[in-house]
Amino acid sequence: MNPNPGAVTTSDMLFLEAAIELAEAGRMSCAPNPTVGCIITRSGDIIGRGFHRRAGEAHAEVEAIADAGGDVAGATVYVSLEPCSFEGRTPACAQTLIDHAVSRVVVGTVDPNPRVAGAGVNMLQQAGVRVDVVDLPSAARSIAGFAKRMGTGLPWVRLKSAASLDGALALASGESKWLTGTLARQDVQYWRARSDAILTGVGTLIEDDPQLNVRAPDLLAQGVKQPLRVLLDSRLRAPADRKMLGDGAPTLVVHDAEVAAPEGGPPDDPLQYLALADGTRDLRSILAHLGGLGCNEVLVEGGSSLLGSFVEQGLWDEWVHYLAPKLLGSDSLNMVQLNVPLLSSAPNVQIADACPLGPDLRLTLVREEDNV
Ligand SMILES: NC(=O)c1ccc[n+]([C@@H]2O[C@H](COP(=O)([O-])OP(=O)(O)OC[C@H]3O[C@@H](n4cnc5c(N)ncnc54)[C@H](OP(=O)(O)O)[C@@H]3O)[C@@H](O)[C@H]2O)c1
Repeated sequence: MNPNPGAVTTSDMLFLEAAIELAEAGRMSCAPNPTVGCIITRSGDIIGRGFHRRAGEAHAEVEAIADAGGDVAGATVYVSLEPCSFEGRTPACAQTLIDHAVSRVVVGTVDPNPRVAGAGVNMLQQAGVRVDVVDLPSAARSIAGFAKRMGTGLPWVRLKSAASLDGALALASGESKWLTGTLARQDVQYWRARSDAILTGVGTLIEDDPQLNVRAPDLLAQGVKQPLRVLLDSRLRAPADRKMLGDGAPTLVVHDAEVAAPEGGPPDDPLQYLALADGTRDLRSILAHLGGLGCNEVLVEGGSSLLGSFVEQGLWDEWVHYLAPKLLGSDSLNMVQLNVPLLSSAPNVQIADACPLGPDLRLTLVREEDNV
């Protein structure tokens, strides 16, 4: 893809990494679009910066051109994701860059959207603009959810759990609400804010009555869109007085087709029902439905049954696990409901990161393909 191998310098890489970092500024607001950051330089000096804030609004390249005062002729453009090649709600960015006579574009990763997929690079090259596609892992990682949805129709699935040192989610009594400290709970707010949907099971709804929303003032100040709450409740046994069902924010209750949903409210009712022919055990269908709604990332905040189902069905991509320095003893709820007859069939996960958060430890786990 890159017609100029070896032509990418260390300062190119630094500007590109800075563009990828800048893309994060749109993380909480740009879905269903991917995050994109753009930095424009002339003679080694930054003259413009931009990121994609919201679907339907200006793309990162357009923001950066405006930030540069409009004159970017002869400049170099560093963009985390390939410029788009088609006119949607905004004009094609590849054409905009050509019209502004930039001389070079350095791309972090090719757009996995089949409507682009290299066409933006081709457009630029055919217009005589030099393009370097670097294929940076950090650029690919920054759009992992979007890329997965484009490739499979399914969102990126991030499991979340908090357990004691001895691997318990809760006491048998159900008392578990504040297993971790303040920092870990604040961290969960971040993962919620970047998610398009949050899934939970009816067991958690009954025991904990969670709100599963974003409440951190700093995140709300950034204009975070509240994720869609998704409740898996095959037989519709959730008590009607639970917060998630009555707080006026969007909630989707997924149930088995044999069970009739209550009489429908108006089409814009925040509480919606989805009947699945194969039942709520069919997590792939639920994820496909969410992918169809444009969800790039979903967070699973269920109890041990739902966590077990995701592990069993091999439908997770990343796992954020908080380890609290407590012991809940043998009369407690095991973290994952899973039948593991042999050590050789035990699912393996890899620890990708370990980060202390006050008294707790956050582990970021990724799949080890063989056994999960
Ligand atoms: N520490 C933590 O991070 C954390 C997080 C969440 C919950 N919890 C604790 O977990 C406990 C609840 O555990 P739980 O296992 O009962 O809760 P859960 O996993 O949230 O809910 C389980 C229920 O969801 C329904 N369900 C529907 N589709 C499912 C599917 N595909 N897979 C699994 N379940 C599905 C089932 O009920 P139907 O058959 O009736 O549909 C099932 O009994 C509570 O004590 C809560 O405090 C802890």
